[in-house]
Amino acid sequence: ASAFLPAFTFCGNGSRGTMIEGNYKINASFNPDVDVEFTAIRNNIQVMSGNKTEVYSYVLNVLKADNATVENLPGSWLGPVFRVKQRQRIRVRFKNQLPRESVIHWHGLHIPPEMDGHPMYAVENGAQYVYEFEVNNRPGTYWFHPHPDKITGQQVYEGLAGMFIVEGNEDHLPTEKYDLPLIIQDRIFDGNNQLVYMQNNQMSRMQGFLGDRIAVNGTLENNIHVSKSTYRFRVLNGSNSRIYKLAWSDGSDVIVIGTDGGLLSRPVRKPYVMLAPGERIEIWKDFSEMNAEGQVYLHSLPFNDGTSMGMGGGMMGDQMMSGSGLSNGTGFDICSFTVTSESGERKSLPSAFQNISSIPESEAVNAASPRQFRFFNQRMQWVINGETFEMREVADWEKVSLNTTEVWEFINGDDGRGMGMMQDMMRMPHPVHLHGLQFQIIDRDISGVSADSWGTVEDGFIDDGWQDTFLLLPGMKVKIALKFEDFTGVYVYHCHNLEHEDMGMMRNYEVVE
Ligand code: C2O
Ligand code: CU
Repeated sequence: ASAFLPAFTFCGNGSRGTMIEGNYKINASFNPDVDVEFTAIRNNIQVMSGNKTEVYSYVLNVLKADNATVENLPGSWLGPVFRVKQRQRIRVRFKNQLPRESVIHWHGLHIPPEMDGHPMYAVENGAQYVYEFEVNNRPGTYWFHPHPDKITGQQVYEGLAGMFIVEGNEDHLPTEKYDLPLIIQDRIFDGNNQLVYMQNNQMSRMQGFLGDRIAVNGTLENNIHVSKSTYRFRVLNGSNSRIYKLAWSDGSDVIVIGTDGGLLSRPVRKPYVMLAPGERIEIWKDFSEMNAEGQVYLHSLPFNDGTSMGMGGGMMGDQMMSGSGLSNGTGFDICSFTVTSESGERKSLPSAFQNISSIPESEAVNAASPRQFRFFNQRMQWVINGETFEMREVADWEKVSLNTTEVWEFINGDDGRGMGMMQDMMRMPHPVHLHGLQFQIIDRDISGVSADSWGTVEDGFIDDGWQDTFLLLPGMKVKIALKFEDFTGVYVYHCHNLEHEDMGMMRNYEVVE
């Protein structure tokens, strides 16, 4: 029984009125709208013909879902999709039946630290943890996945991830069967249909895991049938390390209506969108003018525009795949949409959504001298300001005060006193993610980014919405404005290249009274 909670969770919201129900320690006065049980198990499922594939699954049991749904994706190895409303109360009774410890992180949600899935709250095989939180976020597309120290990449890869949609009153946008998740991941299967994870070689330690085939929504069925309708796609890059440069095969603009933290102030049209692991975008697509049987592909464009061989300084940056498979050097298809003869719902693109007011930089206590966070490689180790993750360590430069606004600056590269040429070769993209809040990007300086390695990228960023994750390419500098509200305690921030994260590119920050 002592394995149930680590001793230091005394401050959890379950300290008063707790009650044991079927081994779950729940807060009796919590009163959830959604109450579900998630049992993480090893499972064998039919992914393709022949042998079944061993995956990890969250086995779902819905005890209650008032004015909300929690449903599995058909034929998928992934976890379920939540569709909930703002202010609803969610309880997830997590039971770990995996061989190793695990914990669930609610990526993007603004919830107390002890509900957020910090690795210090991981529970062992046979143990349980109850998540109880109120949905404080804007309507938008969030997600969840495991977060145990050093083994997050493997557990996400095996299948533990799902989408958490907060619905608003958005009837002017496509709804129900026209409002679809698109969770993009890459995988490798061996000749016996089994998932292959990291080869622990030099290349994978640098760039993280890169698969040789794409999975969409946890299946290998990459052709989606759509009616002659307008669609809202909630696109999540759920890959461990791969970055996509998303574009439509028919050359039409990608119409982006939302980012990590919900709808933008207005739709934006982009020739392509850079989507890093952990990030979400919502895109609007109208198939209503297409002929039945017509097809359009969502693909990932080549990063280097074919103008360089992608070698030299760009070798790592290009994320070249060895052997066959997917190459970000040449581009590849993600999935196709085939239009059926059925005509569906046609909506017209709104010219504006609710205005997003920017966090005033003048409110920031440190606008003149932002905290700086340098992401780089130091003696074959991925570090943030020279440090790696220590479970309970919070440095002075990682302590912030409740109810303050700050500006943080993220820099991909060391302070110039590093290894020079050698250091340059060690530069990799890092998707930066902060737990516990949504922030705004106030400046993205791409002047140091090598066009030889990355080709054109400047049109691929959407920096005018709410974010919890952003791509920091080699040589890039990004400033964000963020506000610490409502909760005190320790959260992590890290690189969302899950292999980098597992190798220690993660730190704690603490919000203090
Ligand atoms: Cu989606 Cu700390 O991660
Ligand atoms: Cu990284």
